[in-house]
Amino acid sequence: MKKIRVFEGFAGYGGASFGLKRSGLPYEVVGYSEIDPDAIELYEYNFPEVKNYGDITQITNPKEQLPKFDLFTGGFPCQPFSTVGKGLGELDIRGTLFGDIIRVCEAIEPKYILLENVRGLLGKKHKATFQKILSELKRIGYDVRYAILNSKDYGVPQTRDRLWIFAFRGVLPENFDIVPPIVESNLRLKDFLDKHPDPELYRSEAQIRRIHEIHNNDTFDVEEPLCYDIYNRKIRYDGLCMTVTPPEHNVIRIIEPMVDGKERFRKLSLDEHFRFMGFVINEKEREIKFPPTQNYTKLGRRAGNGWDVNLVGILIKHIFSQL
Ligand SMILES: C[S@@+](CC[C@H](N)C(=O)[O-])C[C@H]1O[C@@H](n2cnc3c(N)ncnc32)[C@H](O)[C@@H]1O
Repeated sequence: MKKIRVFEGFAGYGGASFGLKRSGLPYEVVGYSEIDPDAIELYEYNFPEVKNYGDITQITNPKEQLPKFDLFTGGFPCQPFSTVGKGLGELDIRGTLFGDIIRVCEAIEPKYILLENVRGLLGKKHKATFQKILSELKRIGYDVRYAILNSKDYGVPQTRDRLWIFAFRGVLPENFDIVPPIVESNLRLKDFLDKHPDPELYRSEAQIRRIHEIHNNDTFDVEEPLCYDIYNRKIRYDGLCMTVTPPEHNVIRIIEPMVDGKERFRKLSLDEHFRFMGFVINEKEREIKFPPTQNYTKLGRRAGNGWDVNLVGILIKHIFSQL
């Protein structure tokens, strides 16, 4: 198979690059587009050889500004497309980041486009927006399939529902199925935790007492480490981690079995954030390196916004096995 030339839009930490590595397919990332300085620093730290083409809205002449590529990837931020009130009276994708994907792909004509967004885009509220996404991809020559996939179904014990959209220039095989077969796994949250968590992550007895008071719950007495959902004030007994989000919304806590009658309640470490995003991080292997300049909040933010690289590897392998 020929190397797939990839352009990674809205790159973040490089979820597409890490996923492609996992897929085992031959590929080359010919460039990426990202504007957040911390994301760029992290991406460059891991993929120093790849060029950043910066703000996608400023790629005004893609044919001249970009190298050729076969696959465009992007977990695009989705602002409302509606221009109602501006006198246009209907949905208009010009001036939206999805509009920039369309503009770039219309000019370069990559064979494949892989996009990701939150599940909510399929909801009632965004129906018109989503229809517009589908019709625009069709208008520029693509056959489109989409599905909601959950990380927990592919070997990582995180419940993370995301919408995946695959677009193919031409016509997809009739029986093409975007959904990879589910991966049976007995792995639970406890299998993804640090062996020796940093003592700084733990809450004091007074802080734990305060949680009980506010949340109106009893002693945390668990037999295995479980996820506590601060927002919903409940323990997840299913052995899954709730959706990893940026630390500013971080409502995940870990409850560990008591030691000497004392409760143990803590935040997730950074390595744990990234393990739940599918990365292999253990004594022997570290799939992603963190720049020493970046703190918990900055790196946690990337994990909360990132792609599950385990799922991406499986998805890409599954898609290309049918083409
Ligand atoms: C949801 S995150 C994508 C995460 C990525 N898929 C990953 O695996 O980490 C969206 C990213 O788009 C970037 N972004 C926002 N506006 C952009 C623009 N105009 N041009 C390029 N990137 C942009 C943001 O900085 C953010 O990192």
